[in-house]
Amino acid sequence: MNTVDVKVMRFDPEKNEQPRYDTFQIEAKKNMTVLDSLFLIVEDQDQTLSFRCACRLGMCGSCGMVINGRGRLACRTKIEHLGDSILVQPMRNLEIIKDLSVDMEKFFRSWEKVKPYFVPKEDTDEFSIIPPSSGRRELIDENQDCITCGLCFQSCETVSFRGDEFIGPAALNRAYNLIADERDGARAERLDMVTESKGAFGCRSFGACVEVCPKGIKPMVTIQKIKTKKLQKAIGLKW
Ligand code: FES
Repeated sequence: MNTVDVKVMRFDPEKNEQPRYDTFQIEAKKNMTVLDSLFLIVEDQDQTLSFRCACRLGMCGSCGMVINGRGRLACRTKIEHLGDSILVQPMRNLEIIKDLSVDMEKFFRSWEKVKPYFVPKEDTDEFSIIPPSSGRRELIDENQDCITCGLCFQSCETVSFRGDEFIGPAALNRAYNLIADERDGARAERLDMVTESKGAFGCRSFGACVEVCPKGIKPMVTIQKIKTKKLQKAIGLKW
């Protein structure tokens, strides 16, 4: 067991003009996560600390934070890999509700822009099956596991620079999954929607989204695939 300093950004927009940082000392145990350390702080030192979490398993996507300068899930980040001093800040590019809790509305508004749901081509009650041998499932295999944690959105320099105007990496990744699905009746409309200036062609390929995704998704690569599909469609190729 060793002592670790956990320095946490504190900010209540209703009471504070500027954020401040509080440092808490905790006794680190093997396999303890940053989320565990925040719970310890609330239990033993400061009950007013605010943060968000639910599953504690890396599944729900609610505990995204900036930890030692990098976007991570607090429940999947072990403090033993972070040294004796840990800096915890809220996600960027989103409004702070209090301390480490941010308002995800801006992130989910970007999802709404891409029509993020399957639109059947025909009115039918039958399941539309993709045979495993068709190869069509593999097209989207590596993009499927998004947990909407917002870490890519918060790390995206284009979102920082252009704000709401840019759709953002997670929503574009979702759009690609539907565009690549030939069963979807809105894929052409969706492709046009996400290749306007606010969409895929607005990406400046900084690549932070790829670095931070806890599920190993590469939104920057997916965005390139959207651009390719748009060009294929524009010159009359199969897309
Ligand atoms: S608490 Fe659910 S992903 Fe961390």
